[in-house]
Amino acid sequence: MSWKFDPTIITMIEVKDITKTYGTGDTAFKALRGVSFKIAEGEFVAVMGPSGSGKSTLMHILGCLDTPTSGTYTLDGRDVSTMNDDELAEIRKDKIGFVFQAFNLLPRTTVLRNVMLPLVYDGVDEEKRTKRAIQALHDAGLTETHFQHKSNELSGGQIQRVAIARALVNNPALILADEPTGNLDTKTGEIVLGTFQKLNNDFGRTIVLITHEPDIAEHAKRIITMRDGVILSDKKDHIRRIAHHPEQII
Ligand SMILES: Nc1ncnc2c1ncn2[C@@H]1O[C@H](COP(=O)(O)OP(=O)(O)O)[C@@H](O)[C@H]1O
Ligand SMILES: [Mg+2]
Repeated sequence: MSWKFDPTIITMIEVKDITKTYGTGDTAFKALRGVSFKIAEGEFVAVMGPSGSGKSTLMHILGCLDTPTSGTYTLDGRDVSTMNDDELAEIRKDKIGFVFQAFNLLPRTTVLRNVMLPLVYDGVDEEKRTKRAIQALHDAGLTETHFQHKSNELSGGQIQRVAIARALVNNPALILADEPTGNLDTKTGEIVLGTFQKLNNDFGRTIVLITHEPDIAEHAKRIITMRDGVILSDKKDHIRRIAHHPEQII
């Protein structure tokens, strides 16, 4: 399928021929073997592939948690592949929200406190932090009744929404989610996925979501499939069927 040139499309992510090798010498393992693609602002991309295909490695690089062994990664026009740890931390704080399968919430701390946590390091005052956390919780689809619960008093789906709210509290343009529905039953997984779709459709967040579940990936506007550290396919033609806003199709 060919796509018309659209001057409103802004490239957010561009990876060019990135590789990642873990270890050295005899134990060296090439987890990524030359991966290239672009992701525009406002896209919702699912990354699929069997276990060990390099999805999480790619996600760590996109999230500035790690750097590639070779190749370049440009995020919002800045080459981040050569940045040092402090610079990467700054980019993460400003631009990226992470949602992981292991929820990483503090169990005996309230929902609201959990979501406020990332802002503690940001020098934001208590009142503003509370306001932003409440907004993020609303955006993630939670209501006031949950805010003062301890996170260990919630269901799996609610916990994952808290994790999404925490990822949103820095107001990131890019949300990266690694198997966010992996621990959830099908129905709860669909509900959590709906939250991502809403964040994409209604709030314009760019989303990259790793999943090995085809049903989940079908909800994305584009599916990148990996195997053995390379991209096997990159499909966005199914979006005509499911896109809510045809004008956003890219
Ligand atoms: N820190 C690491 N050290 C050595 N090997 C690693 C490390 N992280 C991942 N790997 C290896 O790289 C390959 C890709 O891993 P990963 O990116 O986690 O794949 P996926 O998320 O698709 O399951 C796997 O074979 C894994 O064992
Ligand atoms: Mg993984």
